[in-house]
Amino acid sequence: MKAIVVTDQAAGMAGVKLMERPEPQAAINDVVVQIHASGFTGDELSWPSTWTDRVGRDRTPSIPGHELAGVVTALGYGTTGLSIGQRVFGLTDWYRDGTLAEYVAVEARNLVALPGDVDFTVGAALVMPGLTAWQGLFEHGRLRAGQSVLVHGAAGVVGSMATQLAREAGAYVIGAGRAAGWKTSAKSIWFSMSSAATSGSGLRA
Ligand SMILES: NC(=O)c1ccc[n+]([C@@H]2O[C@H](COP(=O)([O-])OP(=O)(O)OC[C@H]3O[C@@H](n4cnc5c(N)ncnc54)[C@H](OP(=O)(O)O)[C@@H]3O)[C@@H](O)[C@H]2O)c1
Repeated sequence: MKAIVVTDQAAGMAGVKLMERPEPQAAINDVVVQIHASGFTGDELSWPSTWTDRVGRDRTPSIPGHELAGVVTALGYGTTGLSIGQRVFGLTDWYRDGTLAEYVAVEARNLVALPGDVDFTVGAALVMPGLTAWQGLFEHGRLRAGQSVLVHGAAGVVGSMATQLAREAGAYVIGAGRAAGWKTSAKSIWFSMSSAATSGSGLRA
């Protein structure tokens, strides 16, 4: 299969190459997914997990990218909960080959069904910011219905996810940011700010 591969940490982005790699096999509890859309985080090439396994051994050549949306093509022995042909999206383990490839082997527990009316590109794009927002609000923040939350950078990728998740949970959202064009449909109080001073505020429905 075709894959984006890195072998030399010192080379940075110049070391990113398109290569032929063997198609992955599904281990116990894995599925193989044919990738339709993939996400790559800007600083992944600086993560230790891109270069070594969990005990610090070199694992290059490695395939970056950990967000994905695609279709299940194979099930590992004992894998339950997903089926061949199912549309899925999710995140792959940082220490395993990633999603900038035609196929990836991924633990089934790291995937969920992608609804038929959600594009693959949308599915792959919302995983990381959605999880970031979720953890900030509900795992670290323990936000509950009726509480208020201030979302900085609320028009950004993580901020817009945080705004929508908080509203869905019944919380009140105060959003702060610089953006002129707000994309959220949630009811929110917004403040338009520069780093030096507040330049505007209002109420959006
Ligand atoms: N995206 C992810 O999956 C992810 C995961 C983990 C952590 N993070 C971290 O979460 C943070 C936000 O990431 P993001 O992906 O949501 O970025 P983003 O889409 O670029 O959003 C950043 C937001 O912050 C606003 N902003 C920037 N400078 C500002 C300033 N001086 N005053 C007020 N607002 C300002 C931007 O406003 P404008 O729209 O006007 O530029 C934008 O709305 C970053 O620190 C990132 O490293 C992101």
